[in-house]
Amino acid sequence: MINTPKLLAFSGSLRNDSWNHKLVCVAADAARKGGAEVTLIRLSDYRLPLLNQDDEPSLQTHPELLALRALFSDADGLLIASPEYNGSLTPVLKNTLDWMSRLAPDGSYQSAYPNKVVGLLSASPGNLGGIRGLSHLRDILTSVGSLVVPQQMSVNAVHAAFSEGGSFVDEAMNKRLEAMTDSVIKIIKGQR
Ligand SMILES: Cc1cc2nc3c(=O)[nH]c(=O)nc-3n(C[C@H](O)[C@H](O)[C@H](O)COP(=O)(O)O)c2cc1C
Repeated sequence: MINTPKLLAFSGSLRNDSWNHKLVCVAADAARKGGAEVTLIRLSDYRLPLLNQDDEPSLQTHPELLALRALFSDADGLLIASPEYNGSLTPVLKNTLDWMSRLAPDGSYQSAYPNKVVGLLSASPGNLGGIRGLSHLRDILTSVGSLVVPQQMSVNAVHAAFSEGGSFVDEAMNKRLEAMTDSVIKIIKGQR
């Protein structure tokens, strides 16, 4: 029985002023209010090489790979805000998810995806809010065995979405975000 779900939260953007990072920060706050312990990271702090199977044996001690594996192993769930690049997810997000799906040859890391509950978000200055990329991301995570909650959130015209206090201008959006994070938390706690 898990009383305080541990969530790992990150965006799929490397950009300093990323809207998706901002969005995942707001989601992390909502999840904390809902009772989760949230570790918020930036993928720019974990620069993994582009996955080439030939290099995997020599990269097993790569410090950022080890650090990210430890964070993934420790988390009960993930909150991911995914920018949309040409209708799909970003290369850095796919590369990260691929690395985390690989086993360490010495057994020190087993992919933990099958035990993860995942909440998805996206943000874009455009009209569709990045929703097309989320269907690809949902497929990928489902294919590795994660449970992606049905509630997801795509924020269009994101440059106008946030108030100065950091939450959404539109109160209905705050409620939708809360519904998504609550769903992740309740499933992990076995309440759904
Ligand atoms: C290569 C590339 C492709 C893009 N394709 C899309 C797209 O298909 N749909 C969309 O809404 N925005 C697209 N954008 C714009 C991004 O949504 C925008 O740059 C956004 O701010 C990226 O997220 P971030 O602020 O979290 O980095 C694209 C941007 C780049 C660099």
